[in-house]
Amino acid sequence: MSRFYLTTAIDYVNNRPHLGTAYEKIAADVIARYHRLAGDDVRFVMGNDEHSQNVFRRSTEVGLDPLVYCDRMEGEFRTVWAGLNISFDDFIRTTQPRHKAAVQAMVQQAFASGEIYEGLYEGWYCVSCEEFKPDKGLIDGQCPVHRTTPDWIKEKNYFFRLSKYRDALLEHYATHPDFVAPESRRNEMLRLLEGGLDDISVSRAGQAWGIPLPFALENVVYVWYDALINYAAAIGYGTDPTLFEHWWAQIGEPRRQVVHLVGKDITRFHCVVWPAMLMSAGLPLPTRIFGHGWVLFRGEKMSKSLGTVVDPLDAVEKFGPDPLRLFLSKEIVFGNDGDFSWDRFEEKYNADLANNLGNLVSRVTAMVDRYRQGHLRATLAAPQLAASGLAAATRWAQAFDDLAIDVGCAAVFQFVDRINEYIAIEAPWKLAKAGAAGDTAGNAALDVVLWNATEALRVAAVMLSPVMPAACDEIRRRLGDAPTGVPLLWAQDGQWRESGERFVVSGAALWPRLEPKETPVSEEIKPESAVPDQSQPPVSQWPLESRISIEDFMKVDLRVSTVLTAERVPNSKKLVKLTIDLGSEQRTLVAGIAEAYEADALVGRTVAIVANLKPAKLMGIESNGMILAASPDGGKPMLVAFDQPPAPGTRIR
Ligand code: ME8
Ligand code: MG
Repeated sequence: MSRFYLTTAIDYVNNRPHLGTAYEKIAADVIARYHRLAGDDVRFVMGNDEHSQNVFRRSTEVGLDPLVYCDRMEGEFRTVWAGLNISFDDFIRTTQPRHKAAVQAMVQQAFASGEIYEGLYEGWYCVSCEEFKPDKGLIDGQCPVHRTTPDWIKEKNYFFRLSKYRDALLEHYATHPDFVAPESRRNEMLRLLEGGLDDISVSRAGQAWGIPLPFALENVVYVWYDALINYAAAIGYGTDPTLFEHWWAQIGEPRRQVVHLVGKDITRFHCVVWPAMLMSAGLPLPTRIFGHGWVLFRGEKMSKSLGTVVDPLDAVEKFGPDPLRLFLSKEIVFGNDGDFSWDRFEEKYNADLANNLGNLVSRVTAMVDRYRQGHLRATLAAPQLAASGLAAATRWAQAFDDLAIDVGCAAVFQFVDRINEYIAIEAPWKLAKAGAAGDTAGNAALDVVLWNATEALRVAAVMLSPVMPAACDEIRRRLGDAPTGVPLLWAQDGQWRESGERFVVSGAALWPRLEPKETPVSEEIKPESAVPDQSQPPVSQWPLESRISIEDFMKVDLRVSTVLTAERVPNSKKLVKLTIDLGSEQRTLVAGIAEAYEADALVGRTVAIVANLKPAKLMGIESNGMILAASPDGGKPMLVAFDQPPAPGTRIR
């Protein structure tokens, strides 16, 4: 068993969590759950960053003592994290005694060894970043992230000898190519290091909200220096050496990993300042720091200060946590920025969940119900399906091991597609029909197909469980594999079973399809747990979500017309120019049928056309409408024809 210590950034509590901050916690939770599934000894820590000036200001605004305010916000944060099913093992707050002890221990040691010295600071400070900004880091005098003018600060400060660690950091980057990921972040940090480092201020004067410097009590520790130490404090640095030894001190051994997951805006603190702090304390560096991208809303970073926030609990109230967890994990390339919109979220919900995975669960369980009264005995594995499962699982594990959570999700859904294909090809409804007519081979084949379809779905659910834990528990319950309270283990639960039996239960649709907002939901097409029609393959080339309403169809005005004149378009192999009679008017249109029809032979023919198409220019000729023709693959077009030619202008519907 390997040890896996995973952290997220700790959040400022001046506002409630939004979808951007939640994204990071969801991604981390997926990774933590994956490692638990893989059998690792996992410690997953999150927390709140409380000693920020913004937090202090906010508490004053709402008229609360800052600590009382922070207590209250802890409740708010925990509510959101519980709503999203985030399975952290520990939650640290920077006002906790264990954290203060760790910060004071590290600062004291650095001071004692001369790593911290006294000086004068003068410069711009962005309170929202809690960061000094060099002139060249401002755009039109403003912080580029928060679009606010920073404060000019001049005070006596204590400085940390960051500059001293530049070469050692470059060396570490060179010998540990995976230290900072993704690659783009690593390159950014390398450029920064190559440009040289300045020492940084690690104290603030004249503030009461913070952890006092043990050697200069009238100053508090700079909030970032304070906050970064949470990663060590949470596992006992300065308070519990045994615990710290267990999780941190053995980094570098092959079966120990420490991973920090943070947003790209704070990589410098994590990939340069924090490692230098650790070096100065004589501690090993984390295995990996991953700088994820931003969740954007209407193209902007989702941020309270920019007023572009979505409340994650809005999605949870409507759909439960799992569809949101899937959307964020699967649709954003991990490491890149990704846009969130409700339209796209609902579109993916319909495509991936309602019509794909949810529909598959309904169909499979309904078939087992109908054909085998819910009871199946194990058969041998269907070799190709089981092999696809194994291949998908390999890609899945590789991706999750490498923190490519979007790729891991895609691997599961590729396998789901494969299960759908398997059912379409094996056509259990045909086997059932044959079986009912006394065909024993058909009956046995049906047992194999049903067992393998349920088994494939069960394995897919285990693979997807880090992303959609509650939904996957429910899928397994329906497949007769109800969660027992014992955590899933891939080494056991990921194996394809060829023995035993299962009692399948069907139920309501897991994810009822969402109807487009304007269109009233008609009763006939309301989603339900589909019971397959025995004579019809349940897989359609036209999934429900891609179908159009009758109103949409009626927008296309199809009419009968007759061809008055026809001539080939010069220099074109395919095009012919026609004048047509539409009853009420005459038109010119251009059709791509010259390879199949002589121009002369077209004159007098009755054809079907789209009458309300916007004009388009083809080879310089304005075409007003389109002729309907069948277009066989690789063959020539064939005009739609009528038994008896109707009058020009007759509507076709
Ligand atoms: O930076 N999309 O706290 P924070 C993705 N307290 N991630 C986002 C995001 C978005 N739109 N907006 C914010 C802090 N984040 C410090 C961290 S760690 C020792 C101290 C991410 O509340 C952001 O990048 O401003 C960061 O990783 C986390 O949310 C908390 O942001
Ligand atoms: Mg921030």
